[in-house]
Amino acid sequence: MSLDAEVRAGTALLQGAGIRSAQVDAELLLAHVLRMEPGELRRARVLGAPVSDGDRRAYQDLLGRRAARVPLQHLTGSAHFAGVDLLVGPGVFVPRPETEALVALALQALGETSAPTVVDLCTGSGAIALALAHALPGARVGAVELSVEAHRYAAANVAASGLTVDLRLGRAQEAFGDWAGQVDVVVSNPPYIPPDAVPVDVEVRDHDPELALYGGGADGLLVPREVAARAAHLLRPGGVLLMEHADVQGEELTGLLRGQGWEQVRDHPDLNGRPRVARAQRAAAAG
Ligand SMILES: C[S@@+](CC[C@H](N)C(=O)[O-])C[C@H]1O[C@@H](n2cnc3c(N)ncnc32)[C@H](O)[C@@H]1O
Repeated sequence: MSLDAEVRAGTALLQGAGIRSAQVDAELLLAHVLRMEPGELRRARVLGAPVSDGDRRAYQDLLGRRAARVPLQHLTGSAHFAGVDLLVGPGVFVPRPETEALVALALQALGETSAPTVVDLCTGSGAIALALAHALPGARVGAVELSVEAHRYAAANVAASGLTVDLRLGRAQEAFGDWAGQVDVVVSNPPYIPPDAVPVDVEVRDHDPELALYGGGADGLLVPREVAARAAHLLRPGGVLLMEHADVQGEELTGLLRGQGWEQVRDHPDLNGRPRVARAQRAAAAG
C-alpha cells in the first residue's frame, strides 16, 4: 500500500475506536515509524510513495495500541511544549497544551526583570521549567518533582535540552529552602483532581500517574494549598505565583489564596473562557 492509503486506513481504524484526533494521530504515528517530520510525510503521500512491509507492521502495531487508548505521546515517546521537545512515557504526566498559558503568564509577570529567578513546583517531565529556561536565557530556573520516575524523565529532558535547570527530587512543600525570599515567579501545575472526579478519558485515567492527578483532600486542593504556602516562602516581596487548577476550582482556590494573605488575586481564563490559572502576588515588604 502507499503511504496515503496507510494513513487513510489508520485514520478509519482510530475513528472507529472513538479517537477524536484520528487523522492527526494516524499521520503522526506513521511519521514516527518512518522517522519523518509531519510535513515531509505529507509531501511523500502526495507523491504516492510506498511503505515497506517492516514499516507497515510497525505502524499497524502502533495503531492497535493507540486504538486501545494508549496516549499518542507514549507511543512516539515525545511531546512538544512551548518551544521544547520532551521525552515522555509511562510514569510521567504528559504535558498539556493548555498549560502553556502558565509559561505565557510567567513571562508577562517577569516583564523586563533582568536575570530573574523562577521556580517550577511539581515539574513532572520538566515541561514548564524547560520552556522558561528556553525563553529566558539569563534566568536562574529551579524545578522540583516528588516522583522518582517522573524526576528521571525530567533529568533526561534537562540533559538533552542543553539548558540549565536546577532540578531537585523531593516534596514541593519543602523545596528550595536555600532560595527563600529570592524568587521572582513561582509556577505550578500541581495535582488538583478531587478523589471523586476520576477522569473519563482512558488515556488520562489509565496512563497518567495517580500522583500527578489527585491533589488530596475532599476538594483535590490539599497539595495546591501547600504548594501555595511554599511559594509564599520562596517569593521575594511582590513576587508572583501562577497556579493551574480545574475550571470548577477557580473560586475556591482564589478564596484560599486570599485567606493565605496573597494580594491582587485573580483568575485567568483559557481560550474557551474557563478560569484555569490563578495569579497572586506576595505582599510587598512594609515600609
Ligand atoms: C499535573 S502533573 C504536572 C507536571 C508538569 N508540571 C506539567 O505541567 O506537565 C503534577 C506533578 O506533580 C508531581 N507531584 C505530586 N505531588 C508532589 C509534591 N508534593 N511535590 C512535588 N511534586 C509533586 C507529580 O508527580 C506530577 O509530576
